[in-house]
Amino acid sequence: MSASFLQAPASFDPYAVRAEFPILERQVNGFALTYLDSAASAQKPACVVSGMADQMRTAYANVHRGLHTMANETTQSFEGARQTIARFLNAAHSEEIIFTSGTTEAINLVASGIGADLKAGDEIILSVMEHHSNIVPWHFLRERKGVVLKWVDVLDDGQLDLQSYEVAFSAKTRFVALSHMSNVTGVITDAKALVDMAHAHDVPILLDGSQAAVHMPVDVQALGADFYAITGHKLYGPTGIGALYGKADRLAALRPYQGGGEMIESVSKDKITYGQAPHKFEAGTPPILQAIGLGMALNWMMDLDRLAVAEHENTLAARVAEGILRHNDVRIIGDAPGKGAIVSFDVKGMHAHDLAQLMDRYGVAVRAGNHCAEPLMQRFKAASTCRASFAAYNTHEDVDRFLEAFEKAREFLS
Ligand code: ALA
Repeated sequence: MSASFLQAPASFDPYAVRAEFPILERQVNGFALTYLDSAASAQKPACVVSGMADQMRTAYANVHRGLHTMANETTQSFEGARQTIARFLNAAHSEEIIFTSGTTEAINLVASGIGADLKAGDEIILSVMEHHSNIVPWHFLRERKGVVLKWVDVLDDGQLDLQSYEVAFSAKTRFVALSHMSNVTGVITDAKALVDMAHAHDVPILLDGSQAAVHMPVDVQALGADFYAITGHKLYGPTGIGALYGKADRLAALRPYQGGGEMIESVSKDKITYGQAPHKFEAGTPPILQAIGLGMALNWMMDLDRLAVAEHENTLAARVAEGILRHNDVRIIGDAPGKGAIVSFDVKGMHAHDLAQLMDRYGVAVRAGNHCAEPLMQRFKAASTCRASFAAYNTHEDVDRFLEAFEKAREFLS
């Protein structure tokens, strides 16, 4: 399919975006790279790659501690990144943004802080569509404190079952932690309805935005979520960095997660007093360059017409779905209306790993496995699936190459 044939939205040119990602020019196994694994980790635009290198070349020192010029410059860049994240999520104050190593640490931080005050029999609501990062930290509380996990089911199309959610609440519910977009199915939850229902029961809620924040503008104030977690490497930024948004009053009430330098107000032999958020939650030297790199990535994203990007990604995902469903042995897991640009599928009699490895021979990168979401795989009775996931830099040619490789892999396995 030629570029001129494509009907890309006028305000978004995927070819211009793609040109900002030099890595996408490489070959894999003698074929042009077709990268459809962005839900696992997105590629980085040149401005992030060179921006981080420039930062190291021109201004690097530890943050918050120094009195010298370069320490102050680096602190300004670091805190500037925090402000960028606040703008990206429309947080009311940048102090509501805590740097973490990613969503996993963000959720562990909240679970650990909340968990300190929970007792046996208290209940936490999760859903079967959660990634393990939003399951295992809560299982720790089940194991260690006797907390009870209540599970919300999904409907057959992968959408969260709101009825099952409603009946999960009881007088013992203390916290809700739910996904805003499934990493397996791409299904997007009605986050506002989830927050409103939690608040109607006077229970705080955390939303896992690892996938959602990539594909849609997120406004934490409009959602009203108490906590919202994002991860940098899926947002075209570096690994080792992410953020937790927390409402100011929630963060003030939350116990700190780790102890160390910079998070205290004072320390004596028999007493400590903590600093204020966000520093209360950022013990030790933070991932300075990664935070600055994430700020660069988010600024890059916010310069795009994000709704046009999502429309483009969804068009590509729909073409993949249509192409593979021509075979009646293919099943797509999760096809709820309005889902995001992720297509997870299995093929009767073919192992997802075999399919993924064979497609890789043609330069096509997809993920195969349980996607760190075993309860969801159990719900759909799938041992593993192949997953194609899309980003702003994908084009219709990627879809063409995916479909060709899929046919060849099938032929080989038949
Ligand atoms: N959470 C990442 C994924 O879904 C790794 O692939």
